Amino acid sequence: MNRSVACPFLLFFLCFATVSPATASGGGQWELLQPSIGVSAMHMQLLSNDRVIVFDRTDFGPSNLSLPGGRCRNDPRDWTLTVDCTAHAAEYDVPSNAVRPLTVLTDPWCSSGTVSPDGRLIQTGGANDGERAVRYLDPCHDRLCDWEEDAAGLAAARWYATNHVLPDGRAVVVGGRSQHNYEFVPKLGAADAGAVSLPFLRETRDAEYNNLYPFVYLNVDGNLFVFANNRAILLDYKTNSIVRTYPTVPDGHPRNYPSTGSSVLLPLQPSGSEAEVLICGGAPEGSFTKASTQKVFVGALNTCVRIGINDPSPSWSVETMPSPRLMGDMILLPSGDEVLIINGAAAGSAGWELGREPVLKPVSYRHGSPAGSRFDVKTPATIPRMYHSTAILLRDGRVLVGGSNPHAFYNFTGVDFPTDLSLEAYSPAYLEAANSNARPAITGAGPPVELNYGKPFSLRFSVAAMSEKGVLVTMVAPSFATHSFSMNQRLLILESKPAAAADAESSLYVVDAMAPSSTFMAPPGYYMVFVVNGGIPSEGVWVHIQH
Ligand SMILES: *[C@@H]1O[C@H](CO)[C@@H](O)[C@H](O)[C@H]1NC(C)=O
Ligand SMILES: *[C@@H]1O[C@H](CO)[C@@H](O)[C@H](O)[C@H]1NC(C)=O
Repeated sequence: MNRSVACPFLLFFLCFATVSPATASGGGQWELLQPSIGVSAMHMQLLSNDRVIVFDRTDFGPSNLSLPGGRCRNDPRDWTLTVDCTAHAAEYDVPSNAVRPLTVLTDPWCSSGTVSPDGRLIQTGGANDGERAVRYLDPCHDRLCDWEEDAAGLAAARWYATNHVLPDGRAVVVGGRSQHNYEFVPKLGAADAGAVSLPFLRETRDAEYNNLYPFVYLNVDGNLFVFANNRAILLDYKTNSIVRTYPTVPDGHPRNYPSTGSSVLLPLQPSGSEAEVLICGGAPEGSFTKASTQKVFVGALNTCVRIGINDPSPSWSVETMPSPRLMGDMILLPSGDEVLIINGAAAGSAGWELGREPVLKPVSYRHGSPAGSRFDVKTPATIPRMYHSTAILLRDGRVLVGGSNPHAFYNFTGVDFPTDLSLEAYSPAYLEAANSNARPAITGAGPPVELNYGKPFSLRFSVAAMSEKGVLVTMVAPSFATHSFSMNQRLLILESKPAAAADAESSLYVVDAMAPSSTFMAPPGYYMVFVVNGGIPSEGVWVHIQH
């Protein structure tokens, strides 16, 4: 059914105007959720209570979100405003579309994070008085949880570092400005206390840095894949030894900050032997310097590079995107067959006011299709999402998009790309009304379902039109998004049996699936599980897995 028909009469023209043009080209729809949440979504993390923690930077000056109860931050070290009674972090509740201010005291600018196995956000580093902070936030069901901070929780200052959750539930924190090393949080003992040297980060640092926010993935063999600048290693973090060295990408151009491409670990198959990394876009070498010193805004890279990291002789294959892009965000969609590339710009560099030519059209990449026919251009956005913008997957299958603040302050007027405080949702084509008959609905799942490694579990679902191809079960980790990279982003296709009718008359089915075999496949914590029918995912349910 055409959605505009369902609109109340008085809203007909409004609905018609917003829905119809948005569906006209390419697929997918945009919806403005909040014109302003008061802070700019520089960092975003979805928690298992369906709330998204959003924060920017304390040194921006006053935000548009007041701290409650006359609370103020008295920070003599703040670079802009030493007494600040506004919030720089907020909790966005997805089901009610409501925003609550949170109190972050030290500066989390350009920081990193993971969710611990118990569902707690563990966020690390930042700048100024926050560069060694470890901050914790519980996923509460009331409105009382707020940040707890340990201002000296890290061994080294971590600004532009990347985190990844490990099989034992700790997080590794890799790199950061002038940090050619990594460390672990939480610190369980003396062995965790210090930083471990990683010369690869010194070797990949160039005159523009270009190796910040490295792309880090937990490989299915338990080692860490670390991509920095234009090449990668496989690191055994337990012995601090390099297990494998991968070739330099074919064109040699940098992909990390400030050249800022984006990357994902492609969906993992149940066999657990293969793993492929995809990196898309970025800026040619020298772009940051040209933009910052000469105001010359070089065109972004228009390629993706892809590598099987466990292949006997790994090599990069190169594909051409429909258009150039840097500062894109890449999201693994729960259908398990598609990567969304969204946000960003077609020229310039990451860094203050160095991006030009916003790219409004998302692109989807179907990694399983034959090379040459993988890309598809989607319905364009209206709001440019430049430097400091983010995108994350929500449990209902939508993609939450926010941020864009290429300025050192909140600048709403007199600049090319004003500070943006809005939140939007991009709904991929699978959510269109035309797919409602094929959309499964998982029934009877309450609060997080407990899974056990390597053990079967069942999901009951209803669907009006069962696909001849049968159903897939996918499992997605909620990721920490900032600077065009989603840390801990991981999608598993679970082994499952053909779905069986539980009650043919009421379209009820049951699918038996196998939980991931090991913590190498799926580090402990909370995940969203989806039933996918002929490419159409259900709404996800939260599951928890831990030894
Ligand atoms: C933020 O507040 C300022 C000052 O009140 C106002 O001028 C500006 O329009 C607000 N911006 C947004 C995006 O709400
Ligand atoms: C951005 O905001 C800051 C702080 O309010 C102000 O000093 C600066 O002039 C603004 N920049 C522009 C280009 O308006």
